[in-house]
Amino acid sequence: MAIEYIDEAPTLDEYMAMRRAVNFMVLSERIAKNALKNAFHITTVRDNGKAIGMIRVLSDGSYANFITDVMVLPEYQHRGIGKELMRRTVDYMKSTLEPGETIILYLMSAKGKEEFYKPFGFKERPNDVWGAGMSQWITRTDANS
Ligand SMILES: CC(C)(COP(=O)(O)OP(=O)(O)OC[C@H]1O[C@@H](n2cnc3c(N)ncnc32)[C@H](O)[C@@H]1OP(=O)(O)O)[C@@H](O)C(=O)NCCC(=O)NCCS
Repeated sequence: MAIEYIDEAPTLDEYMAMRRAVNFMVLSERIAKNALKNAFHITTVRDNGKAIGMIRVLSDGSYANFITDVMVLPEYQHRGIGKELMRRTVDYMKSTLEPGETIILYLMSAKGKEEFYKPFGFKERPNDVWGAGMSQWITRTDANS
């Protein structure tokens, strides 16, 4: 097995296929294409060329940074690939800093995946200091609104 970590986006088809494989929401082609195009940093994992995992960072290019689409195909899980994606991504974000600078990394854990993220320094919310993270899905339901 030749596993490679490449700091480039997967193709649109690869992205859609990986999302399907891990039961992430089906995105329209337009939304998926722009998600790849506008990401700040993407790492794709390939096994002999085949896309088998990825991670994306969305960013203002400076202070606020959001990690999303952390996924490894089910047949490749539990081999340390997700951990390596997280390690590389946190290291990369640190590499964007000058000495003494601080930025924030956000993520929204899927239910039950919190333990996966804790070794990389992420803290669950709410806690004694911080309120809960909050989110919503929004959908345009008709042609005119
Ligand atoms: C979450 C995910 C990326 C982990 O990838 P992976 O390659 O299987 O993870 P690793 O093999 O690198 O595991 C790293 C560590 O996290 C732990 N871990 C992995 N999956 C876990 C889970 N679901 N819950 C808790 N701990 C988990 C492992 O035990 C391992 O710890 P260890 O090194 O002490 O043994 C993968 O399960 C996945 O793609 N899931 C479906 C998509 C998803 O839910 N993504 C997260 C969205 S927030």
